[in-house]
Amino acid sequence: MDLMSYVGEQFHKPIGLGGRLATFVMNRQNQRQYLGTEAILELGTSDAVLDIGFGNGYMLNRLADRNSCHFYGIDISHDMLDVAKKRNKKHIEDGRMSLSLGSAEQTGLADGLIEKAYTINTVYFWSSLDAGLKEIWRVLRPGGVFINTVYSKAMLDSLPVTKNGYAKYEIGEFLEAGERNGFSVKMVPIAEEKSYSIIYKK
Ligand SMILES: C[S@@+](CC[C@H](N)C(=O)[O-])C[C@H]1O[C@@H](n2cnc3c(N)ncnc32)[C@H](O)[C@@H]1O
Repeated sequence: MDLMSYVGEQFHKPIGLGGRLATFVMNRQNQRQYLGTEAILELGTSDAVLDIGFGNGYMLNRLADRNSCHFYGIDISHDMLDVAKKRNKKHIEDGRMSLSLGSAEQTGLADGLIEKAYTINTVYFWSSLDAGLKEIWRVLRPGGVFINTVYSKAMLDSLPVTKNGYAKYEIGEFLEAGERNGFSVKMVPIAEEKSYSIIYKK
């Protein structure tokens, strides 16, 4: 495997030292996406919130430090589950956070449990948009919201690490998939031409 494919794979499923390094770098590069997603979430005091593909748990920790909601998180990587559990030890011990292995397509969570779900830079790795959106519809309460924060296709195309293993979508594809699965959908820019969030309302 060449270096670019290796780095790309560490963003897909971070494992070992390479995965820790990749997610550390990610935390620094993606600050605008974290802030933008947090602003859109507008968390209430008792919301049940889900992070899909939490990586090293940075965003969950940031939100749980500032909000008294109950947080759920799922990720496909055993190693990231360990790292995120360590980072969020206090919130877990306080009974305000539950982290487990799972995927966007199969969260393992109960029907209608979640008021606000979000994912940051994971949709490129889902088996399909429809599979993830159907599962998110199932776990959201009526009126619940899902925020999908991504880099634009043009931005991803400019990065050598995304050459293999990345599904890159245009905004229209995100909007159409949302409507096809019953959501009301809109796009909110985060960084002009580079990054945006799609808001799906059940
Ligand atoms: C690029 S990292 C983003 C991590 C985190 N969201 C952040 O922004 O800091 C992608 C994460 O999504 C996870 N992932 C990949 N495919 C997934 C899927 N189908 N469902 C849930 N998580 C997935 C990976 O294990 C990894 O932790």
